[in-house]
Amino acid sequence: MAETTLDVTDMPKAAGWAQLEAQIAALLDGFDDIAAMATISSVVHHGFGHLWTGFYRTVAPGLLRVGPYQGTLGCGEIPFGKGVCGTAAAERRTVIVPDVSRFANHITCDSRARSEIVVPVYDAADRVVGVFDVDSAALDSFDSVDASAIERIVRWFRR
Ligand code: SME
Repeated sequence: MAETTLDVTDMPKAAGWAQLEAQIAALLDGFDDIAAMATISSVVHHGFGHLWTGFYRTVAPGLLRVGPYQGTLGCGEIPFGKGVCGTAAAERRTVIVPDVSRFANHITCDSRARSEIVVPVYDAADRVVGVFDVDSAALDSFDSVDASAIERIVRWFRR
């Protein structure tokens, strides 16, 4: 079961996240950050079937670079403070954008993206080591259920 790619699109969102969280917890044991990022991206991407699911990593002070992800081509580098990803990293908070056309600072990697959630990822020293970003082709795809689930998942990087 742990190795099967799950599709949770036919169940209530909270139940879907619970399944994915259990699977991720079982898979990450002994992994390093990159392996964990790749695995989380795969599980969440195929679980919900959104447009883009993945990580940007802090590779220099104030600079995010695309990390492990699934979906259409991501943007290469995003400075802290720019776009939804850079805003989440700079302000150290989860950012939910119901309609990207109304977010002045949004960076378009795929013109089909309509809504987005970005959650900061911290290490054990409370540094922002990256962000986790999910982009949807539908408006208003994300809410506090997604935020809480993703925040629980990325707590793993504080180990
Ligand atoms: N939309 C993001 C950029 C990253 S991607 O969409 C994959 C942003 O505004 O930060």
